[in-house]
Amino acid sequence: MDKIRVRGGSVLAGTVEISGAKNAALPDMVASLLTAEPVHLRNLPYVRDILTTRRLLSEMGVEAEVREDGTSSLKAANVTSLEAPYEMVKTMRASILVLGPLVARFGRARVSLPGGCAIGARPVNLHLMGLEKMGAACEVMHGYVEASTRRLCGAYILMDIVTVTGTENLMMAATLAKGETVLDNAACEPEVSDLANLLRSMGARIEGDGTRTIRVQGVDALHGCAHRVIPDRIEAGTFAAAAAVTRGNVEITHCQPAHMVAILEQLRRTGCNIEVRGDETIRVQGRDPIKSQDVTTLPYPGFATDMQAQYMALMTQGDGAAVITESIFENRFMHALEMIRMGADITIVGRRAVVKGGRSLTGAKVLASDLRASASLILAGLVAKGDTVVDRVYHLDRGYYRIEEKLRRLGADIERIH
Ligand code: UD1
Repeated sequence: MDKIRVRGGSVLAGTVEISGAKNAALPDMVASLLTAEPVHLRNLPYVRDILTTRRLLSEMGVEAEVREDGTSSLKAANVTSLEAPYEMVKTMRASILVLGPLVARFGRARVSLPGGCAIGARPVNLHLMGLEKMGAACEVMHGYVEASTRRLCGAYILMDIVTVTGTENLMMAATLAKGETVLDNAACEPEVSDLANLLRSMGARIEGDGTRTIRVQGVDALHGCAHRVIPDRIEAGTFAAAAAVTRGNVEITHCQPAHMVAILEQLRRTGCNIEVRGDETIRVQGRDPIKSQDVTTLPYPGFATDMQAQYMALMTQGDGAAVITESIFENRFMHALEMIRMGADITIVGRRAVVKGGRSLTGAKVLASDLRASASLILAGLVAKGDTVVDRVYHLDRGYYRIEEKLRRLGADIERIH
């Protein structure tokens, strides 16, 4: 299994180009199940989760091509299986996204329940509640949810917790339902709007995405389209945090600063100099001292939980104490335990982590527990004395395209060990 070795001490400088957003590309690919016509996507990140989604769709009979240049063609004209097996869902929870489109177009689906994961229980009850409100019968048997209906009907659906993939699943389902669906307390994440834009290009009638209330007028059929996936705000935020923690000076291109307001504002509070240049470029200049600043993760437009681990790495170098509150997932501090092994002073009490800065980190062998945790350990390694070896790099490969090459081009001493 691959590992990544990083030697601390480099000050990052130069330009890095951001890839397409994995969390937008996944639902965008799955949306191809809603039509028999081809869907062409651009700016996909060539990462593991995207290849897993291609395999999942292929096994259902979708003609699915994904190329390293970021283009993809998907044609669901001959769907032969309406099932997402456990083997797929356990490696990628987002596989649950096929449920809504399959039930909407074919009236039936069988999808494995994802179960727990490294960052918490992560149930899918709201996905099922919404489909039931639209008239589907959902039964859980042998670890699978089996959903069926003659045709979904529009409904008023209030989600009591903001759920990103839940909103996406139900929005896709509603496009082919009879009548109007209202999704209330919907997720406002840019990835939801990206999917809404794609669905509109396919002929769907959707309003209100990007707000807490989304209205969908169902149509009888959707058609093919071409769509460009939005840039990855979390990848961009990760590089911004890398610039900050190494006191570097990095230009981040092909990103969408408008999607990163909370991340950039938080980095500014820690003392970074951040310059937004036009619609697609940010320059981040890290400065001493790094000011310790509290943060709470929140649904968009708040500070993203997917940036919490990377921010913690930054706070280990702060000039005081910072309280990091994780309000989205109940168990998302596994990276803290590894940072403590590197010499960080972090105390966890429930959903709060108190990070005392000013400690020099020392390189160690560390284990990545999830995607963003892996990235945070690399950031910690960038400022640690000596070598840090991050194991279980497959987590990183799920969502970052060649992160070690991008960091190396910025001057990091980093390599992948096969
Ligand atoms: C998505 C992102 C993930 C990000 C997360 C929160 C994708 C592929 N993944 O995950 O990177 O960390 O949003 O921004 O887009 N919940 C329920 N019942 C449900 C669904 C969710 O209780 O039916 C809870 C979850 O346990 C969690 C909270 O809602 O506490 C938010 O989770 P959710 O937004 O659904 O996360 P994902 O969509 O899985």
